[in-house]
Amino acid sequence: MNNYFELKININPEIEDIVSDIIFTNFDCEGIVQEEETYKDLEMTSTTKGTLRVFLTSYPVNLEEILKTERELLKSRGFTDNELGSWEITLDEKENQDWSKKWKEKWTVTHVTDKIAVVPSWLEYHPQKDEITITLDPGCAFGTGTHQTTQLCMKALEKYLKKGDSVADIGTGSGILAILAKKLGAKEVYGCDNDETVIEVCKENAVINNVSDIVFELNTADKLSKQYDFVCANILHFVLAEIMGDLKNILKTGGLMSLSGILDEKKDMVLDAIKRENLEIIDTLSQDQWISFVVKKTDN
Ligand SMILES: C[S@@+](CC[C@H](N)C(=O)[O-])C[C@H]1O[C@@H](n2cnc3c(N)ncnc32)[C@H](O)[C@@H]1O
Repeated sequence: MNNYFELKININPEIEDIVSDIIFTNFDCEGIVQEEETYKDLEMTSTTKGTLRVFLTSYPVNLEEILKTERELLKSRGFTDNELGSWEITLDEKENQDWSKKWKEKWTVTHVTDKIAVVPSWLEYHPQKDEITITLDPGCAFGTGTHQTTQLCMKALEKYLKKGDSVADIGTGSGILAILAKKLGAKEVYGCDNDETVIEVCKENAVINNVSDIVFELNTADKLSKQYDFVCANILHFVLAEIMGDLKNILKTGGLMSLSGILDEKKDMVLDAIKRENLEIIDTLSQDQWISFVVKKTDN
């Protein structure tokens, strides 16, 4: 077995998914532990919150330059140094021990709502009556169902999706939202992502959930011409703001869209884009520091 590299990076915990996304995109990353807690007698005695622990299968070439460029990009999009944290790094080469197994041991069944559970593919789970289960192996794709932004979209789908709706999931990651849409009764479901490495993961997840008629492909909203009854987009707030017009174009008049991935303190950027595109907010959901909007297209 080859050795692996363990990178630790100090960040502001509020942007842990943003930095995780950067790392998954730029390096050969097999997994990221965002936080590990130690308990004694039910009291938390320590936490690694604010330090990402990243497992890399190859040496991260140009690590510092890449992080510097990405940090500058975030700053140009309105993040302050305080909001980003120090991004101080340590990098160690480690002997390979089956850490991917250890990472799997940490992820268990997630009950997103009373009716929706996300189950790791290596666990056996007996659902309650009428409970929808999504079986997942996310690989390196985002979307285990544990993140607040994913859960907010799942709750919006449960609340607003109508049986027979057509659905597009833009930024599909592991395919979790597309799979849920199909299991909630959507007729035709399409999922796309601009990261080609996730598409195979989505297709495999669709097969293990018996919903292999979902179409997954490498794509972005601006390239789509079809219109859907329901659109989900769980993507970082500044991307949502940039592509809001494209998202609106793929929504039917009268259709609904769940927009997630928005830090509460950054919501104005998304609200401006919603206003610019003349979309009507019909619901606002929140979980911890994350917020999501359900919007309706009322014009053509
Ligand atoms: C936060 S993850 C969401 C994954 C999954 N939908 C969920 O809710 O857990 C965002 C995903 O959007 C993808 N993405 C980012 N920008 C995109 C864009 N402009 N068009 C399509 N996908 C994009 C990323 O590659 C990533 O897989």
